[in-house]
Amino acid sequence: MIPVIAIDGPSASGKGTVAQRVAEKLGWHYLDSGALYRVVALAGKKRGIAWNDESALATMTGGLEIRFENGEIFLDGENVSAAARTEEMSRGASEVSAHPAVRRALTDLQRGFRKPPGLVADGRDMGSVIFPDARTKIFLTASAEVRAERRYKQLMEKGNHANLAAVLADLQMRDARDQARKVAPLKQCEDAELLATDHVTIAQAVQAVLDFYAARQQI
Ligand code: DC
Repeated sequence: MIPVIAIDGPSASGKGTVAQRVAEKLGWHYLDSGALYRVVALAGKKRGIAWNDESALATMTGGLEIRFENGEIFLDGENVSAAARTEEMSRGASEVSAHPAVRRALTDLQRGFRKPPGLVADGRDMGSVIFPDARTKIFLTASAEVRAERRYKQLMEKGNHANLAAVLADLQMRDARDQARKVAPLKQCEDAELLATDHVTIAQAVQAVLDFYAARQQI
């Protein structure tokens, strides 16, 4: 079986950066599943399909050509990396990802990333739904305040106007929606290791994931 390290957790927990670095260190493939939901939200906007129109979105999703290349994401041949990472698409992704039919339409695409020598996948349901047989499952999180500060800094560095209280309120709203939805809610799997990153550097978090993986190899 091709090994999978599943890293789930809330927005701005640092899981994307950690997952990417773990994949680099191991020489494995990397799946940013959140990017897929962002692209669905973006494609919906481009085609005039409302984010609450579950069936039209699901039909559209089945026909999208989504490709990752060197950390960039392409939709129907167009590089949409920046367009998919805006705060508007964060909200859109949170909304479209609550639809079961949209999630189903992305399931096979996500499983297709499992190729030798291995896959590091990050998202909300990697360990619970998409790769339930992953040997290493991590729930990577941090308090809402710490995550809001990190997101705020990122926005300021990119030259965007930001307001810490608004960023925190937005994160909390998205957490609540991701946790409350009926399908694949954000939660720690019983068999996932908890990794809290409030007081941990990225390098330490990467090492902790590699240590969990190594420990699982010995069981
Ligand atoms: O990880 P992210 O911030 O790029 O995710 C964007 C949204 O997509 C987030 O609100 C939750 C949703 N998502 C999901 O439902 N399932 C996943 N596996 C990944 C992301």
